[in-house]
Amino acid sequence: MLTCYDYLTAQVLDKAGIDVLLVGDSVATTLLGLPTTRGVSMDFMVEVTAAVARGSVHALVMGDMPYGSYDTPAAAIGNARRFINAGAGAVKCEILPHQLPIISALAGAGIQICAHLGLLPQQVSHPGGYRVHGRREAEAADIVQLARDAREAGAALLLLEAVPPSLSARVVSQVNCPVIGCGAGKPCHGHVVVITDLLGFNGKPPRFVPVIGEMPNHIATAATQYRNAIKDRAYPDPHHEYQ
Ligand code: KIV
Repeated sequence: MLTCYDYLTAQVLDKAGIDVLLVGDSVATTLLGLPTTRGVSMDFMVEVTAAVARGSVHALVMGDMPYGSYDTPAAAIGNARRFINAGAGAVKCEILPHQLPIISALAGAGIQICAHLGLLPQQVSHPGGYRVHGRREAEAADIVQLARDAREAGAALLLLEAVPPSLSARVVSQVNCPVIGCGAGKPCHGHVVVITDLLGFNGKPPRFVPVIGEMPNHIATAATQYRNAIKDRAYPDPHHEYQ
């Protein structure tokens, strides 16, 4: 699983064989430059999901329910349906224990739901508020219980963010559904990272991200060459001109 926020990238990731394209609310911080994920609207998320769905042939598109879009079961169902109508095959919600009825309501409405547990970015109200969850036994036990309850409530899959691998192993052994890790170590069945982190746009990526691409350098090289060609009057030349 990779995050994806646009049509062109969706085409590339889909052809590359990525199984799930997560239209994450991380689009708020990565592409919109907002300080936290809270500032992104439902309308924007639906537009972006539709674009990703248009670019995806094989991959499952998963819409990420933004902050405030699933405060009640009725709101959750209405907003999840907007994602489904935009082309998503599933939605993801960050889940606290009191939100288990949201999962039941979505599952009852026939919507595939991924329950996001562990570090919940929507609960982080300032950029420095990210931390590993479940290092202490009491917190770890709560996450295991919430994972079991979320599965019981109807979650089709779980996403565990920023937890130690020993905790992921406990979750994997106690639920009979796929568990996707985001900084949750090897025991998970699958893994997700934010695409802009993978491609090298984040100067301080989280330690679990395999920074593989160097996209900013490629863009800078192309932009510099273009600028220089204009300054040197090498561009446009006759074969760029209409006759
Ligand atoms: O919004 C997002 O990109 C996410 C991932 C960090 C899992 O929720």
